[in-house]
Amino acid sequence: MGYIDVIHEVKRYNTGGKTCIANNDVTFSIMQGELVMILGASGTGKSTLLNILGGMDSCDEGDVIVDGEDIAKYDAKELTEYRRLDVGFVFQFYNLVPNLTALENVEMASEIVPYSNNSMDALASVGLMNRCNNFPSQLSGGEQQRVAIARAVAKRPKILLCDEPTGALDYKTGKQVLHILQDMSRKHGATVIIVTHNSAISPMADRVIRMHDASIAEVKCNPNPCDIDQLEW
Ligand SMILES: Nc1ncnc2c1ncn2[C@@H]1O[C@H](COP(=O)(O)OP(=O)(O)O)[C@@H](O)[C@H]1O
Ligand SMILES: [Mg+2]
Repeated sequence: MGYIDVIHEVKRYNTGGKTCIANNDVTFSIMQGELVMILGASGTGKSTLLNILGGMDSCDEGDVIVDGEDIAKYDAKELTEYRRLDVGFVFQFYNLVPNLTALENVEMASEIVPYSNNSMDALASVGLMNRCNNFPSQLSGGEQQRVAIARAVAKRPKILLCDEPTGALDYKTGKQVLHILQDMSRKHGATVIIVTHNSAISPMADRVIRMHDASIAEVKCNPNPCDIDQLEW
């Protein structure tokens, strides 16, 4: 038993009379505090799985046990609470609110939980204290992604879910972002799950889950995760 146990999880989408199986009998476990990478080509069901883990979508079959609770059985209200209190989410394209400043974007998330980190501290942790009064349009892609990460970590989530967090970033900024995500696991004990199609970054993970054709192709534990500075892509 893990901290997260996904058991025979199935997700189907129906569009235009056709059924697409996005997750097909997905089973795996994750331990608390691990940094996990979910790898796979485009269209293999990675985002679908991440959304289900984050309580943003529901599966059609199976169980999704998180810290002893089956979130697959949650109703809408329970899912809202779960998303609010337990989950931080970092999207590939940041999803910042355009007419709020960097600081206000972070505050928006931290205001909704009882034990948040200070929003300014969260921005400082991603090196953006001096940009707190800038709007998203005044920030580079890398800076916007760091604001999005500050927004997620300010909530002090038990689970931090990241969908292609470095996908839109240059090499150097990508590494900065990976350092921040690694700190969340190593220093703050959060369970961090990163979806990526970049297999070159997987050696830094404690566990690597490979998806293929909507299924789990392989799960590998890595007892000696490599240093981010050694990664090349
Ligand atoms: N909202 C949706 N409606 C219909 N089909 C979807 C939806 N979301 C994803 N899919 C389909 O499910 C499959 C898996 O998608 P996704 O989870 O986004 O894969 P990945 O993140 O690995 O690229 C794809 O075939 C995709 O077209
Ligand atoms: Mg995706």
